[in-house]
Amino acid sequence: MSNEPLSFEPPRGMRDFYPEDMAWRNRVFDAWRQAATIGGFAPYDACVVENLELLQRKAGEEVSEQIYAFEDKSGRKLALRPEMTPTLARMIAARQGQLQFPVKWFTIAQCFRYERMTRGRKREHYQWNLDIVGEDRVTAEAEILAAAARALREMGMPDDAYRIRVNNRALLGELLQKLGVAAPHHAAVFLALDKRGKISDEEIAQLLATAGVPPEVAAKAFEMLAIQSLDQAAAVAGPDSPAIAQLRELFTLAELHGFADRLIFDMAVIRGLTYYTGIVFEAFDTARKFRAIFGGGRYDSLLTTIGGAPTPAVGLGFGDVVVLEVLREQPGVSATLARDGAIIGFMLPEQRDAAIRLATRLRAEGTRVDLGLAPQKPKQFFARAGASACLSAIFLGPDDVAKGSARLKNLETREEREIALG
Ligand code: HAM
Repeated sequence: MSNEPLSFEPPRGMRDFYPEDMAWRNRVFDAWRQAATIGGFAPYDACVVENLELLQRKAGEEVSEQIYAFEDKSGRKLALRPEMTPTLARMIAARQGQLQFPVKWFTIAQCFRYERMTRGRKREHYQWNLDIVGEDRVTAEAEILAAAARALREMGMPDDAYRIRVNNRALLGELLQKLGVAAPHHAAVFLALDKRGKISDEEIAQLLATAGVPPEVAAKAFEMLAIQSLDQAAAVAGPDSPAIAQLRELFTLAELHGFADRLIFDMAVIRGLTYYTGIVFEAFDTARKFRAIFGGGRYDSLLTTIGGAPTPAVGLGFGDVVVLEVLREQPGVSATLARDGAIIGFMLPEQRDAAIRLATRLRAEGTRVDLGLAPQKPKQFFARAGASACLSAIFLGPDDVAKGSARLKNLETREEREIALG
């Protein structure tokens, strides 16, 4: 042990949540839970520690290189989960025979990734996961995105503050095929193209070359990303592209669900995880100042990859970090709660018992009470009461207890009224 004083900072990339931070966090968590529950999703949970083997996948994927891995005392290879989806797939696979499909589940999972720290990226974050397993129709994508839009509204995000950008990995696959890129190379191409904007195009070309993609095909892959609209994509993919049909259907369903004004086709949305097979999406603030607010898509092969029966699935991960940054920038959005409940104090040790009795009675009625623990001077008490989140303040002095009543002060209106202590 060194003699250096211990740092009061949490480990780099990890966060402490003081009560004022919790007010913001709860605003987001409450909206997530509300939107999921209203949408008919059931809650589930799992341990933060997961088997490393389940989480490790092919090289090239950013998350698999960011895993906090360790061995326990028996030499088991474990990890702090970087995301929830493999765990969800494992839980579904374990009960595949018993579950009633489609399964609609949600959770708020703390996830850990050893990331290079940038704005909106921490080494730990909470992620709302919303998944539908066992449905291959686009109605599932629409249901997931409608819930996300509901959550954003619930937390106070204006509709025009964000956009949901969608694409289809199957469309990218169809186009790559037309460009002459063989199917086994597609995953590597997706991962490389997803790094656009994060690394230089030369470095991406290098990655593509390593994946066995010749330079002239890589150039065509870049060209493909320049496609601006669904109609343009349809012109290249051909009239009976199933991928285009799915995207068109999603736009139709978005109208019905009421979030079509926020939905945009974007060829550059690829996603950095290998398991996506179909429609993929990412939401960004409209000004594109921040990283993705949420991301997700269809992953129809993950269940079989981990040894389960073939089961289609679609879902999203929605982190707490970026959305809070965007939310705090919105005019008029704050996390201060309405005052509620009562704060009770007493002046001398002789009034303590009466204060406790009053608090006990009010708490039994369901009122939130912040009860003073030691005698206080009135000035001290009212200073604390003013700074608290309580709506009313009751201070017991010797006279009050003697006459069996006390003054209740409304901290918002400053009005006072007499209440009986009995
Ligand atoms: P992801 O895009 O890696 O997807 O993460 C989803 C969201 O989690 C991001 O859009 C962001 O809000 C948040 N997030 C991710 N990493 C960090 C970080 N280091 N710091 C802060 N926030 C972060 C997935 O994880 C998929 N498993 C989502 C999914 C669920 N797909 C299907 N079902």
